[in-house]
Amino acid sequence: MSATHTFDIAAVRERFSSLSGGFVFFDGPGGTQVPDSVGDAIAAAMRESSANLGAPYATSRRATAILEEAERRAGAFFSCRPDEITFGMNMTSLNFTLSRTASRDWQAGDRVLVSALDHDANVAPWIEVARDHDLDLQTIAVRPDTTLDLDDLRAKLNDRTRVVAFTAASNAVGTLTPVREISDLAHAVGALSWVDGVHFSAHEPVDVEALGADVMLCSTYKFCGPHLGFAYARAAVAETWRPYKVRPLPTPTTGRKMSTGTFPFEALAGLNATFDYLDEIGGMAAIGAYERTLAERFLTTLPESVIRYGLPGLEGRLPTFVVNVDGVPADVVSEQLGARGVGVWSSDTWYSLGLYETLGFGDRSLRIGMTHYNTAEEVDRLVAELSSFG
Ligand SMILES: Cc1ncc(COP(=O)(O)O)c(C=O)c1O
Repeated sequence: MSATHTFDIAAVRERFSSLSGGFVFFDGPGGTQVPDSVGDAIAAAMRESSANLGAPYATSRRATAILEEAERRAGAFFSCRPDEITFGMNMTSLNFTLSRTASRDWQAGDRVLVSALDHDANVAPWIEVARDHDLDLQTIAVRPDTTLDLDDLRAKLNDRTRVVAFTAASNAVGTLTPVREISDLAHAVGALSWVDGVHFSAHEPVDVEALGADVMLCSTYKFCGPHLGFAYARAAVAETWRPYKVRPLPTPTTGRKMSTGTFPFEALAGLNATFDYLDEIGGMAAIGAYERTLAERFLTTLPESVIRYGLPGLEGRLPTFVVNVDGVPADVVSEQLGARGVGVWSSDTWYSLGLYETLGFGDRSLRIGMTHYNTAEEVDRLVAELSSFG
């Protein structure tokens, strides 16, 4: 039986009151809808577990339990140890913190590689680090077909390279990168493999060990969770870092060593409920398989009046598309779609500045992101709406 049959889309949708109004959301790459159980868990945590860690009474013990469960389950989500997980406000804040922490003893002239395919959240932190330490920052080119140019990467790797920062998947055009291969290339010169997993982890299972990542970051609001980010940092690497931290410096775990201040316990309780939800609907592998059926339907029914950027088929990509309706400004299309009950954004760069420079996307474009709560009927409706402009 195929994944389409095993994935119970009706049961999935029942869990979201935000989906009951008939509005169609194709904006998942910017942030997904959230099941009611996640909101309920957040409210319950605020009612029952408002306390800080370490007090000798029940509310504090409950807050501790929320944090420990979140570390354990985020570790399971990434296939790493719970103490290799660090929580933060979002991916961007975590990446600014971790990149600064990792690079404290890097020397002027050391090389940092970023990628032209990436969201700026995995580029700007390295630009700042490079400025602060006088590092040699180079950009791995992206090919016109939106794949990362590994020949360019090979040519730019040298024995002074400290980090290769790259995304597992483009948040704009959905293109995947060969994470394991890039990690191996980085490790061959002693550099860190520093992976933006934000877009990838919302669609596919993650195994940081199999991917060879030293650092991997994600944002939980991209996969039906609260506004929160978390990062994996390989213990053997993170143990060598001196984190920015208030004193005294308790180090109960490697991951906690990197976080500052009080944890957002209610958001972590919401995250635990998100992991429950994802498990209950079949897990990330089932989600990915179902989303591919939506993407296939989209690709095979899209009219010629819709211009697509990026890889032509499903191969090598996630179900995220940048398109334009020929002759109609993207803003006009998104505005009208919104009025007709279909949520699709328009933007210029999608925060992917290198990719934008390479491809252009016709100044502005529409991004269509399939999420596992979308239906085949919604895809048909979207295609019909896009066709109506042609
Ligand atoms: C691929 C990718 N990386 C990083 C980010 C930044 O994530 P956050 O909003 O959690 O800082 C985003 C957000 O859209 C993204 O899509």
